[in-house]
Amino acid sequence: MRVALVYSRRTWEIDEIEREMQRRGVEILSFRPSDFSLMIDDELRVLPEIQVDAIYFRGPGKGSWEEITARMNIFKILNMRIPVVNSPESIERCVDKMEATIRLFSAGIPVPETLITENDEISEIFVRRIGRAIKKPLFGSRGEGVRIIERGEKGYLQRFLEHGGRDIRTFVIGRKVLGAVYRIKEGSPITNVARGGRTEICELDDELKELSILSARALGAEICGVDIAEEGGRRYVLEVNSSPSWKGFQKATQINVASEIAEYFLKGCPEHKEFMKRRIWGKM
Ligand SMILES: Nc1ncnc2c1ncn2[C@@H]1O[C@H](COP(=O)(O)OP(=O)(O)O)[C@@H](O)[C@H]1O
Ligand SMILES: [Mg+2]
Repeated sequence: MRVALVYSRRTWEIDEIEREMQRRGVEILSFRPSDFSLMIDDELRVLPEIQVDAIYFRGPGKGSWEEITARMNIFKILNMRIPVVNSPESIERCVDKMEATIRLFSAGIPVPETLITENDEISEIFVRRIGRAIKKPLFGSRGEGVRIIERGEKGYLQRFLEHGGRDIRTFVIGRKVLGAVYRIKEGSPITNVARGGRTEICELDDELKELSILSARALGAEICGVDIAEEGGRRYVLEVNSSPSWKGFQKATQINVASEIAEYFLKGCPEHKEFMKRRIWGKM
């Protein structure tokens, strides 16, 4: 079996995947998201023409709007012939926090009250009504740029959940929820491991399993991390990460995530076809 790994930054996770795949005799080719070109003549031809059984796609990386759009289109074309996991469509849905929230809400998954606006007046009314809001960049990750606001502002605003400096991260591969961890940062609203949060094992109960699978399905993500916050005994899904890190998760759970991912590829990415059946060209 041959698998292409596509990533823009070589991380600990990529080292882990390589090791676990090689141990199983999988041949690995590594690419950057910008390595591919599309030629349109008598057919749609992606160059270089790689012969692999699947592609593990960790996202389009950094670039201008034009570069990212071009890369995503190329991976959509590749995905017509080779399973691209996660699919470019699902990555688009996950990284756009507005689209992700729309889709989670539409799937009946509890999400915090959210306002996306360019209108200062509406924003002021929203923040006054909910008390405290959290503002996030529409395209952000690792807790970067997330902050609490007490006055109205333009952008993506969410009711601040009183989670007490602790939320939950679950890890999903296909139909399986591997486990759950608490991410804890006492006295801080932002618990990302990248922002200094530490992890502790969390019991994976039926509700967490169901929320995780429903969220992953709502966005079409096969390999993902789901962020869930608790407030007053209720759970809310904050986001789905289509290129998750898992060092903290693995430390707390002792689950070898890369090994599980390698097994998913060896099985031929069983959920991929099912997600692709529901694929719609473009975003919505
Ligand atoms: N509505 C909210 N209420 C309270 N805390 C939140 C809320 N949304 C996000 N957070 C905190 O901020 C962190 C980052 O937010 P998240 O939506 O996961 O974006 P990112 O992509 O940056 O991880 C979350 O892990 C959580 O700790
Ligand atoms: Mg997050």
